[in-house]
Amino acid sequence: MCGIVGFTGAQAAAPILLEGLKKLEYRGYDSAGIAVMDNSVISVNKVTGRIANLCEKTDDGKAVPGNTGIGHTRWATHGAPTSENAHPHLSNDGKFAVVHNGIIENYMSLREELIKEGYHFDSETDTEVIVHLIEKYYKGSVRDALIKTTNRLRGSYAIGVICNDNPGTIYAAREASPLIIGVGTDENYFASDVTALVSHTRNVIYLEDGEFAKITSEKIQVFDCLGKEIDKSVVRVMWDIRAAEKGGYEHFMMKEIKEQPAAVKATIAPRIKDGKVIFDELDISTDKLKSINKILITACGSAYYAGCAGKYALEKLCNIPVSLELASELRYSEPIIDEHTLLIVISQSGETADTIAAMKECKEKGATVIAIVNVVGSTVAKLADYAVYTWAGPEIAVATTKGYTTQVTVLYLLSIFFGDKLGLIKENYEEYVKCVQSLPRFIQQAIDMNPAIPTLAEKYHESKALFFIGRNTDYATSLEGALKMKEISYLHSEAYAAGELKHGTIALIEEHQPVIALCCNSKIMEKTLSNIVEVKARGAEVLALTFRNNEKIVSVADDLMFIPEIDPIFSGVIEIVPLQLLAYYVAKENGCDIDKPKNLAKSVTVE
Ligand code: F6R
Repeated sequence: MCGIVGFTGAQAAAPILLEGLKKLEYRGYDSAGIAVMDNSVISVNKVTGRIANLCEKTDDGKAVPGNTGIGHTRWATHGAPTSENAHPHLSNDGKFAVVHNGIIENYMSLREELIKEGYHFDSETDTEVIVHLIEKYYKGSVRDALIKTTNRLRGSYAIGVICNDNPGTIYAAREASPLIIGVGTDENYFASDVTALVSHTRNVIYLEDGEFAKITSEKIQVFDCLGKEIDKSVVRVMWDIRAAEKGGYEHFMMKEIKEQPAAVKATIAPRIKDGKVIFDELDISTDKLKSINKILITACGSAYYAGCAGKYALEKLCNIPVSLELASELRYSEPIIDEHTLLIVISQSGETADTIAAMKECKEKGATVIAIVNVVGSTVAKLADYAVYTWAGPEIAVATTKGYTTQVTVLYLLSIFFGDKLGLIKENYEEYVKCVQSLPRFIQQAIDMNPAIPTLAEKYHESKALFFIGRNTDYATSLEGALKMKEISYLHSEAYAAGELKHGTIALIEEHQPVIALCCNSKIMEKTLSNIVEVKARGAEVLALTFRNNEKIVSVADDLMFIPEIDPIFSGVIEIVPLQLLAYYVAKENGCDIDKPKNLAKSVTVE
């Protein structure tokens, strides 16, 4: 959660730090701050709320002199979002300023120790122990003080430090939190992710856990945890800078919804050649695959729901049982896993703390790990045996859209790939491949076929609660549809397996209760229809999602959204699109901050 940036060069630092923080704001947006060094004077500016407040306070950075600095945008963990708790934090002697992303798990004992030694604390944050430890261990070398400090820390951190004894130098250290160094010409940077850097440089160095860096405008030195200098390669980032801009859209979320045909196409393109599904990145032998007796999918939030949507295709085409565990549960559940388990980890950011912990646990127990991940070089990608990238490009809106659809698409492709390797797909192979190839076109149709959604949003936006129902693949999508709705519109939304309604939930159905019924699986349509009739008999208003020619549903529902007809195994990627649009327009009606919903952050790097 939280985003950090650092800059050193000949230009004024503050405007560059603010620009970087704006790009990272999706990682946290309850308070922000910068510390800039002008010769050896460090000035700190902090605000509550958005980066815009910091821009206002500092006249877009023009009021803050200096060419070296660090910045932070916060998602509060320890202590309320006040300006005292906002980063950067200063050492008692004013020599050091520190920004931090992550959680210091042993901060309480360190805090007590430091207080006993006479250090005073100005905030409630876990971060403040870092800056006092640096002060405590500093004997003229920031590098040595950083080594000693990080040796005392337990938990996760990406840290940025400046010291007024070393004007023009920024320091960075990482453990289990993302941190990237930007390599410029006569100026250098660090940031939590590449979106903050790509307008300045595409050349980056990925810091690994336990490494730290000393960065001046001319030189970047990276050290291991013992302080030994190490060689790091510079990687060229291919992300298109326009992907991190709104490009005329009011919100990133709408831009990203509309980008889905292209994103899914980019996900598919390298994996279908001459009508065959291929995965160059997966050299799993057929013998190894045959030895797999269980597929376990783990992830958090929407990524978990992507797993739910992909499970049906995997089971049907590969004939291997697929189970799903939320990563936050899996990590503490002592899972029964061995070398016959294939673990599929799904993560857009590749930095979700629970997901990383769960995958480490399963890997230790012998599972083969495939990660479906969007951010190149992220922790999840590095830890996996095989990283399969979704190629969705940067996703900026906190609520995932193209991240989700590309994840589900990869699961469809994997199902065909594995099913074929196992010799289980014979006559339908071509049809399945064609279906997946049609997904980008069908997503576009699902966007185009629903011009009534803004009007539906006007009708439903004041509802007390929304219930989403569906069966099988429709149920999987209703889970993600309900999450999308609640996270951006703040409407209470829940998804239920349609057949479960009568086991309790139907008690909540009363006159005018909206029920969003997903009816896109022709094999079980009649069953969902019965559930629609049951809730209508109790006064519910039914907004159905179905095919245009599905007369039975069309005639019984009060309102309709449509998708083009597609084999239900692959329908999840299409069905979610009208639900994303509905959530978007309901949130808009409710005047919500669509790209940055309250209390949320894009990358959940804390437990
Ligand atoms: C919801 C959403 C979250 C993420 C979840 C996992 O729209 O974006 O539920 O899906 O926090 O994040 P990643 O995929 O980065 O591991």
